[in-house]
Amino acid sequence: MNVLIVYGSETGNTESLAESMGERIRAAGHSVKVLNAADAVAEGLCSGYDAVLFGCSAWGTDEVELQSDFNTLFEEFDSIDVKGKKAACFASGDSSFEHFCGAVDVIGEKLTALGAVIMEDGLRVEGDYSGNKEDVDAWTDRIIAAL
Ligand SMILES: Cc1cc2nc3c(=O)[nH]c(=O)nc-3n(C[C@H](O)[C@H](O)[C@H](O)COP(=O)(O)O)c2cc1C
Repeated sequence: MNVLIVYGSETGNTESLAESMGERIRAAGHSVKVLNAADAVAEGLCSGYDAVLFGCSAWGTDEVELQSDFNTLFEEFDSIDVKGKKAACFASGDSSFEHFCGAVDVIGEKLTALGAVIMEDGLRVEGDYSGNKEDVDAWTDRIIAAL
């Protein structure tokens, strides 16, 4: 399968999740591209991929604000060509905030509205990959099984 992982990350936490997932999915025999949202173009983003994973941290206080690079991409999400494709969301966050990993909900709702096939409930991680290897690897394995 051809898998795309797009992430928006300010301090590297969500990036560490994306990279670890990419390595694990690759090790399972799939082709994976890991793409920083800062380098992504919305138009046709998902074209040619069988599955897409979106990762993004949140930066609001009263309401969820998507990480800025991802937010720029999100403004053009209607053109990403995700209809009928398998998709899932993940995020790094801080559970002391009201909307822990709130980007998972915001992006997931949009993907559903765009007709994506949600493969798995969104993954919410406190901090980076290093302290959450078991949870992240288990979630990634469920994604691999659903490819
Ligand atoms: C002003 C501010 C607002 C934040 N808002 C949230 C939030 O709403 N939900 C959450 O889970 N984390 C929130 N965080 C924490 C970051 O999202 C968290 O540190 C995350 O791990 C950063 O990931 P990144 O390095 O991939 O950008 C906030 C942090 C700051 C400084």
